[in-house]
Amino acid sequence: MKRWLLILIVLLGVAQFIRPDTSVPAYDPAQDLLAMTKPSTQVEQLVRAACYDCHSYESEYPWYDRITPVNWWVHHHVEEARHHGNLSIWGTLAQKRKDHFLKDAPDEIGEGDMPLPAYTWMHPKARLTDAQRKVLIDFFSGLRGPDAADRDQAD
Ligand code: HEC
Repeated sequence: MKRWLLILIVLLGVAQFIRPDTSVPAYDPAQDLLAMTKPSTQVEQLVRAACYDCHSYESEYPWYDRITPVNWWVHHHVEEARHHGNLSIWGTLAQKRKDHFLKDAPDEIGEGDMPLPAYTWMHPKARLTDAQRKVLIDFFSGLRGPDAADRDQAD
């Protein structure tokens, strides 16, 4: 075997001990978006399958997402996604953040930018049909509320 290949394998082996901290803080399940809005089972399952691995504290990491360095890349996405909108603590978010998320979500879904394409590639359960996209778009648009546009104006 080529020496560089052996070195690479050893380095990757050692790197497996260097993992991101994926623990989550304690949070109140009553503040969860789905707990608060109680949509139909169909909608709930879709939102969980398509958004919750990143935009919540309920991220599930299959084995290939736990390997260093993939885990750092995944961790970064999850941190960023939670920053933009953590649906597990929805009830505690500032109105401005909720408005922003709900305003963007339909566009992001409609354009195929959410869920992230790099994610659906490895997670077939999050690959959406056009009909499923519409269900999700309707759900998030419906949460915006009649006075959201006024608040956008006021910004
Ligand atoms: C693989 C992880 C992942 C999944 C799954 C995912 N997102 Fe995201 N989301 C991100 C990341 C990372 C960002 C921030 C960076 C960006 O905008 O690309 C983000 C940003 C967003 C934003 C804010 C966009 C902005 O410009 O402010 C919205 C809205 C959003 N996601 C909605 C959703 C919805 C709705 C779903 C489910 C249908 C979803 N996302 C699924 C990772 C994800």
